[in-house]
This record gives sequence, C-alpha cells and structure tokens, in this order.
Amino acid sequence: MRSHYCGQINESLAGEVVEIAAWVHRRRDHGGVIFLDMRDREGLVQVVFDPDTPATFALAERVRSEYVLRIKGLVRLRPEGTENENLASGKVEILGQELEILNRAATPPFQIEDEDVSEEHRLRYRYIDLRRPEMFQRLKLRAEITRQMRAFLDRHGFLDIETPMLTKATPEGARDYLVPSRTHEGSFFALPQSPQLFKQLLMMSGMDRYYQVVRCFRDEDLRADRQPEFTQLDVETSFLDEEQIIDLMEAMLREVFAEVLDVTLPDPFPRMSYVEAMARYGSDKPDLRIPLELVDLKDVMAGVEFKVFSGPAKDPKGRVAALRLPSGGELSRKEIDDYTAFVGIYGAKGLAYIKVNDPARGREGLQSPILKFLPDEVVAAIIQRTGAEAGDLIFFGADKASVVNESLGALRVRLGHDRGLLEPGWRPLWVVDFPMFEWDDKTGRWTPLHHPFTAPAEGDVDKLESDPGACHSRAYDIVLNGTEIGGGSMRIHREEVQEKVFRALGIGEQEARDKFGFLLDALKYGCPPHGGLAFGLDRLVMLMSGASSIREVMAFPKTQTAACLLTGAPSPVSFEQLREVGIRLAKSAKAG
Ligand code: AMO
Ligand code: AMP
Repeated sequence: MRSHYCGQINESLAGEVVEIAAWVHRRRDHGGVIFLDMRDREGLVQVVFDPDTPATFALAERVRSEYVLRIKGLVRLRPEGTENENLASGKVEILGQELEILNRAATPPFQIEDEDVSEEHRLRYRYIDLRRPEMFQRLKLRAEITRQMRAFLDRHGFLDIETPMLTKATPEGARDYLVPSRTHEGSFFALPQSPQLFKQLLMMSGMDRYYQVVRCFRDEDLRADRQPEFTQLDVETSFLDEEQIIDLMEAMLREVFAEVLDVTLPDPFPRMSYVEAMARYGSDKPDLRIPLELVDLKDVMAGVEFKVFSGPAKDPKGRVAALRLPSGGELSRKEIDDYTAFVGIYGAKGLAYIKVNDPARGREGLQSPILKFLPDEVVAAIIQRTGAEAGDLIFFGADKASVVNESLGALRVRLGHDRGLLEPGWRPLWVVDFPMFEWDDKTGRWTPLHHPFTAPAEGDVDKLESDPGACHSRAYDIVLNGTEIGGGSMRIHREEVQEKVFRALGIGEQEARDKFGFLLDALKYGCPPHGGLAFGLDRLVMLMSGASSIREVMAFPKTQTAACLLTGAPSPVSFEQLREVGIRLAKSAKAG
C-alpha cells in the first residue's frame, strides 16, 4: 500500500511520486487549499490538496483527525519560508494526487499532540496513546536494546531457553500471583517471581550458559519503577566466578550503550561495598551523579546533652549522621519545614540543621536551634568532618541506622534534584559484599538480603547458623544513576550448604522439602558451581530513554493499583467458572 513511511520523506525524493498509508494527524483549510499532516510510526509529513483535482479535493474535505488514508502524490520542496525545522520531512511536502479513505475514525478521546492528558485516560485508550511519536520511539528503543543484548549473548554462547509460567512459588520476597488448577481441585500454580530455580536447574542439566527475556510477576506495592508484571533479561552460567560474570555483563552493557546511544561507559565499572554505600549515601543504590555525602558523627555525639543525638549515638543499632548542602544557607524556613516533612515519610522524627554563616568564627559564625546543646569540640568536629564552608547548611539525622539511612538517603536524592546538583552522564556502579541476612523485627527472623539460593562468602559457611548476622554473600547488584537495574549472585551448589541456609532462615526441614524438595534433590545429582544475574529490562529502558516511569516504556502497563484500564482486568468471574476450578465463594462475600 505504501512506498515510504511519512517520516522518511525528504528532499532527496523531490520530484518523485510516493505513496503513503497513514493517519490524519491534523487538518487545516487555508483559503481553498487543504493541508493534511499525515502520521505513521516513523513521523509526519505534510500533504497539500488543491482544487485543481476536484474529486480528490472533495474527499480531502471530508477527512477528520485519525482517519486512515492512502495517499499518492508528488514530493516537492516547500516554498521558501514555509519549511518546518522540527520535522525530518519539514523541507518538503506531498502534492496530493490520489486519496483513498481506508477507514474513518470517531473523534478521539484526546489529541495525539496534547501534552497534559491524564495517565488514566492514556492507559484506557492506550492504542491511541501509543500513536504518539515519543511512545513509538521508546518502544523502538526497547526493541533495539533487547536486540543488542541478544546479539551479545548469542555471540558468547548463551542459549535462549524458556521456563514455565505456571509453576511453584519462588521466593523473591514479594507476594505470589496464584492460578487455580481445574484438574487438581484446591491446588494452585504460582506465576514466577523470577525463573531463579529453573535457571539453576538448567545449569544442573549442563546447559552451561542460559538467557531469557522473561516476564516476572510480583504482587507488591507499586511505584514508578515497579510493576506487577515486568521483564527481566535473565542470565545464568556454569563454571564462571563472580569476577567473570561481572566482566561479561559489564561488557554487554558497554556494548548496548555504545550501539544504541553512542555512549561510552567506564571500563571497568566502579565497585563499592554495601557497607560503604550505606555509610556514604544511606542507600544500596546510590546515585553517584549527586555530589553530596553523609558523614558519621556517632562517636562524637554519645556525650552530648541533646538526647535526640546522644540516644541513637549510644544505641548499637543507632546512627547519627550529617549531610552538608553547599549554599544551603539560602534555604527558607518554609523549605526546611518541607524537607522536615519529607524525611518524616521515612520515619525520621525531625530534621535538625545548622546554618553555616562563617565557619572560621566557630560557634559565633553558626545559626541553629540546637547549637546550645552542643559543646565546642563537637561543633568543631561537625565543621571539620563535613567540610562546611560559608553559606552552607548541615542537616542531621539521628535514629535507628535504618531510619537515618532511608531518610537522609532520600533527602540527599531530593536535594540533588531540587537544587540542580546532578552531574550529567552515566554512573554505573557494582554494589558488592552484601550481608547474607538481615534481621526482620516484624517476623523475628533472619531474611535473605537476596534470595535464599545465594552462596555465602567462602569463609562464612561455618558461621551460617552460629552467627548469621556476620555472614557475607557472593551477591552483586548493578546500579545506574540511582536505580537498581540488576542483581545476581553465585549460587549455592552443595546440598548441605543450602540446608544450612534454610535452617539459618528458620525454614524447617519439612517446609524446605515441601517448597524446594526438587532443588535439594537436584543438588544431589552433580551440580556445577554456577551463578548469574537478572537485569530489570523495563528499568534499563526507562533510564536509556529518559522516561520518568517504567510505565512509559511498556506497551500495556498496569496502574499503581495493579489494574489494566484498557481491558478492565482484573475482573469478576462467574460462579460457574469459580466452581470449575474448585473455588466456592460464600454468596455474601460476592455480594459484598
Ligand atoms: P531481583 O529480585 O533483584 O533478582 O530482580 C532483578 C531485577 O529486576 C528488576 N525488578 C523489577 N522491575 C520492575 N518491577 C518490579 N516489580 C521489579 N522487581 C525487580 C530490578 C532488579 O534489579 N532471580 C534474581 C536474579 C538473580 O539472582 O539472578 C532476581 O530476580 O531491576
Ligand atoms: P526538638 O528538641 O524535638 O524540638 O528538636 C530540635 C531539633 O532537632 C528540630 O530541628 C528537630 O527537627 C530536630 N530533630 C528532632 N528529632 C530528630 C532526629 N531524630 N533526627 C534529626 N533531627 C531531629
């Protein structure tokens, strides 16, 4: 039906007759001449109809926005002064000769070029929303990124192998989506939170190098970078150690960035231990583009009379830290109040601060409601450690370490954005040396920082049960500009170590057999040392396309409440259907 996409028509085609098949983006009548801006996935082109061809002209008069047309016409240079610099085809136009209306369109719920359509509207009419050129560009970029990744992995001997969607729960820390079984009444499949156990089994099967672009399902609270179903580039290898896996994955990312964005990422990527990341940034996914760091003050605060600081300073689980904001002295009272409310979201009970007018004058040069509680040597330590200069402001956090890290870590990122401090560019980082477990106050148990199949550091196997808190894992996360884009680890490949980890997690023998018996069995029959990782593909594409949310890089995403506005899923089903899969709801439950 067409000879060219609209966006491909340019001055090199001047004098030629072309055919396009496209949507009416805009129609303008100008004193006897009709202009149609025609749009397809590659862009826009202007078509002109004049009354010299009356039949075609009459047809052009009838078309409306979003009609689907086939047009044949002559490409010609636009008259001087009427070029459009913003369009690839802006130097030319098509003089329409033939027009066929392939389909009419009802008045669309919003205009394609309208900038402020609500997201609800966009998701409900996603097929129209996706007609917007930037949406097409993002999906195209996504396809390009995936293609480059596949090409790299194919070249390095990885096999693309599919794993089941109807399966058993895999513990990645979220709630499962369940699917009732009709043939096994009362039993359920779980949709995979990741293919973790299957990819390990594939290593035990001798596949050696596996990858998959795979959908994962997690029923968790959603945010800008979380969706209930999302895509991983999932990778697993045998007989490689973490250094080799990290090297390979870095090389892949460098290649993808070079090919797709013409960006050179560092070689090698920097690395940082989990402990250092928490100490300096209050986060295990620090955005290194923001030149602000937390500074520890715990040691100098234990003796001060200000209980807000001395309490956490004396608590083994406490932390007292400062965050210096260069030129922060200009913050208004209202702005400081806003930041105080902001850290409150993360559980901070307040946000003490000192305005630094002139650090050379000691406490005389400072201004703060808490200054009177702090002795000279403490004030001197604060100035010295933060490196505060005239005009700066120093924020303080004092609480349980987890609260200080979360609140000051989030404040650091917020200040970076609010104050325009972000350094441009791409800052990848491997975070390594994670603790094996963290204590969960709610359940009174140790929980794995990664998943329970992550191998402990070489020397820590004997401490798994006696001192779980001191064990480190062989896990690694990859962070890009403050977003965790991937994570992985060396896996446990010995049955007795896997059993120890289950015991450390308080998973009893029976529970372990019920949930992971197949894995424990498989470990008995010749399991190679293996490890791998998974990238969050949506997040990577979000970053590479500059989008603000992963919803912008998914064709059909769900809302923040995990619903699909387009199809209306999830939706009620009939009693009949429920009965078939062995679910009986009380009538009152359904009515309510
Ligand atoms: P993990 O749980 O860290 O590891 O997931 C890997 C990566 O997937 C992305 N991700 C998400 N993206 C969008 N929405 C979500 N709800 C979501 N959850 C996670 C993140 C994350 O880094 N099986 C292990 C990997 C391994 O050990 O090999 C796993 O799934 O970018
Ligand atoms: P208060 O004595 O409670 O009025 O607090 C004095 C100052 O300390 C105020 O600026 C509070 O915002 C701040 N503050 C209170 N609790 C904390 C805390 N846990 N961490 C940091 N600052 C705090």
